[in-house]
This record gives sequence, structure tokens and C-alpha cells, in this order.
Amino acid sequence: MTDDVLVVHGGTPLEGRIRVRGAKNLVSKAMVAALLGDSPSRLFDVPKIRDVEVVRGLLGLHGVKVTDGTEDGELVFDPANVESASTDQINVHAGSSRIPILFCGPLLHRLGHAFIPDLGGCHIGPRPIDFHLQALREFGATVEKRPEGLHLSAPNGLHGTKFALPYPSVGATEQVLLTAVMAEGVTELRNAAVEPEIIDLICILQKMGAIIKVHTDRVIEIQGVPKLHGYTHRPIPDRIEAASWAAAALATRGHVEVLGAQQADMMTFLNVFRSVGGEYEVTDARAPKLGDPGQEGGIRFWHPGGELNAVALETDVHPGFMTDWQQPLVVALTQARGLSIVHETVYEQRLGYTEALNSMGANIQVYRDCLGGTPCRFGRRNFKHSAVIAGPSKLHAADLVIPDLRAGFSHLIAALAAEGTSRVYGVDLINRGYEDFEAKLADLGAHAERP
Ligand code: EPU
Repeated sequence: MTDDVLVVHGGTPLEGRIRVRGAKNLVSKAMVAALLGDSPSRLFDVPKIRDVEVVRGLLGLHGVKVTDGTEDGELVFDPANVESASTDQINVHAGSSRIPILFCGPLLHRLGHAFIPDLGGCHIGPRPIDFHLQALREFGATVEKRPEGLHLSAPNGLHGTKFALPYPSVGATEQVLLTAVMAEGVTELRNAAVEPEIIDLICILQKMGAIIKVHTDRVIEIQGVPKLHGYTHRPIPDRIEAASWAAAALATRGHVEVLGAQQADMMTFLNVFRSVGGEYEVTDARAPKLGDPGQEGGIRFWHPGGELNAVALETDVHPGFMTDWQQPLVVALTQARGLSIVHETVYEQRLGYTEALNSMGANIQVYRDCLGGTPCRFGRRNFKHSAVIAGPSKLHAADLVIPDLRAGFSHLIAALAAEGTSRVYGVDLINRGYEDFEAKLADLGAHAERP
């Protein structure tokens, strides 16, 4: 643990420009989709983060040749020799990511059986996979839970089905898509998640030869096809990372331009950012031409000076305010005058990190009640899932231990905003989702170093 610490000298506004690449929550799924093709796929703008390494390792174990392309961040997947891997080999990746659960459909199609190790990911609630398994059974898969992991087979092949999700889960929607595209017949998924990363996955599958209709009211219809080919794709940029740097700019009274950030995918965040009192400007991309070097698109975020405003917000599925935007923004809300309210409706235990902020001088109370109008599954189940943030609070330095990815980034922002020197332990966890974050901190003028 002692090596895994960042010493942060806070109190300096972040100033400068950084770039975000392909969305973590799309890229890893796009990599899994490559398993379905009968020819190579090519993915651009792949960030160097741990989830990518885990999926690359798992694909390799299943015979997919993964090589670096000529462009920085380009990966090429050759699925010509897909083969089974031993449970021991696969279990090397146990507990390291949640993506392995999405290998079910593609492996069942390619091999007729699949073994899925124990999942990892952030500890932000129980994170069950019941919707995934229920959907796979509906397609005709047999699922056996054994101590070492999940064994699946499809003795009679996979068949289209009508299925309604109890909640618009991102992962379960992806599970259905990755399975239905090559299942025999038509699948109708109701109450599907429609996050931009899911729409981008649908674009990839369509490029591969899939037939997918996205209807209104969260209904997705997939007509199975017998064969898919490889794709070439440049993924949507990471809107969670972009919002995290925006929140860091606001909390440190700085000015950060996030190249690659896209307005359309961040509309809900931008509305809240403006309501809090932050300012932003969208710069559209312009292709270079004679006499004009062109311009890379992005969004500049800054603190305009003066006081920030308290707001009330609820996290929700798309098009609502993302649960992953919540933790970084709350740090900025500790600097707003008045009472801000945050009602977390996606995960039941995603406010634990507020204790660390309180240890730095913030004034945040968490409640079991639903402090918001969105019908929420947690109110009657006794989870502390609403927060009231009283501000502004002067943050002071502290020793912090990072509990999970997004909370970790919020700890980091708090340390950057606080007066004095903080020690942030467990920072390697941030590498799971934020590419080169230490280099980006340096580019933004932060005073942070490994001891
Ligand atoms: N849920 C179930 N049963 C299931 C699946 C989900 O009850 O079978 C519940 C979950 O417990 C949770 C809710 O449904 O309360 C939403 O979960 P969802 O399935 O949508 O989340 P996920 O697919 O596991 C992805 C992202 C998360 C992001 C959520 C919500 C990836 C790898 N992860 O998780 O990202 O918070 O969607 O947008 O795509 C992160 O990047 O730090 C992260 C946690």
C-alpha cells in the first residue's frame, strides 16, 4: 500500500488542457463484440486503462489475436481461431473487472459453452447479475453456478426471446444485445438502457452486420443473423472522465479544456454545471484545410469567480444525471453556498466516500430517505442513498484511502482543492478508469508526486 500513494499539495487551481479518448464503458464492450465477427476488427482511441488489459487478456486466452495497430490507441482483433480456455487460466482474471460477464453470449455462439470467473469492479452495492442470467436462460442457455465461477452451455443453440428488464440495467442490456445479434429469430427487449455507450455498441454491431431497431420507450428489437464480420470503429469519448475533470476545474477554481468531450452526450451534466455556477464553452471540431490548421473539438470548463450555487439533483439512467458524475461533482458542491441535495437512485451504496470529505472539513449528511421525486428502489430498503451538502466549507488536507474508482477521483479532487498536503492511498485504483491521470494532473499544473 505504501508505494500506492500520491502526495498532493492542494490549493492550486487546475489550469490547462487535457484529452479524453474512447469511453471506458464502451471500449471494453466493443472488444468483446470483436469475438462475434468472422474477420478482424479494428478499434481506435482505446485508452490505456486496466479494464482494457483485462479484456485483452481474456480475448487472448480464447484465441483472439490482439495486436497494436499503427495509430496510437488502435487495437486490431483477429478472431480466426477462437478456442476454449481452461478455468485456471481464466480465473487469473477473477475479481478484476465486471466485463467478463459479457463474454457469455459471444462465447456461447462461438464455442457452445462459456466459463465466467468471479466478477470484480467497484464496491458500490451488491451489484447482482440476476438480470443477465435470467436473460441468458430465456435465450436457451443453461447456467450452472459453481464455486469457481459460472459454467454456461447452449445445447440447443440460442433463440430469440421477448424479455423485459426489471430495471434499465446497462450491463444486462449489453448482455442481451451481444447474445441476440446471432440468436435464431427475433428478440424484443423492453425497459432497455439507452445510454450513449449502448447506442455506440449498437452502431458497432450494426457495422458487423446485425439488424437492430431502437424503438421509443426503451424497446430494442434485434433480428438474429447467422454470421457477423469484423468492424472498424472510433468510439465515443469518455463522458465520465470529461465530467470528472470539469468538476475538478470547478472545485479548484480553475480552468480546464477537455479535448474530445462531446456536448450531446453531456447535456444533462452541462445543465447542472451551469446551475451550480460553473461556466463552459463548447468548441466544435474543424477539419484542417489550406491556410487553416483546423481545430480539435472539446469543452472548456471554468470557475468564473465569486460563489457557487447549491443545487438539488438525482442520479438516474440516461438521459438522467449519471451516477458516475455524482462523486466528482459533490466535491465542487462542498464549495457552493447553501444546501445541495443529491438523491442517488442507481446504486444503493454510492455515498460512503462522503465520510472522507467530512474528514477534510466538508459538511455532508447522508439519509436513508429518498430526498427527491424520482421513484427509487432504495428508500424502503434502508440504504443511505441521499445526501445533503451544506456549504461552502473550507477543505483541509487529510490522509485518504481510495475505496473505488469514481469515489477515488473525488478524493483526489478534494485533496487538490484543500489547503495543505494530503496523502491519497490506493491511487492505482484510479488507473482502472482514468488514462494517465498523473500525467494529466501535471499538465494541469497540479502539485502531486509519488513519495
Ligand atoms: N442490477 C441488478 N441486476 C442485474 C444488473 C444490474 O439488480 O443483473 C442493478 C445494479 O445493482 C444497479 C443497477 O441495476 O443497482 C444498475 O446497474 P447496471 O447494470 O446499469 O450497471 P453496470 O452495467 O454494472 C455500468 C457501468 C458503471 C455505471 C453503470 C450505470 C460498466 C463497466 N460499468 O455498470 O460504471 O455506473 O453502468 O451507468 O459499463 C464506473 O465506470 O465506475 C462504473 C461503475
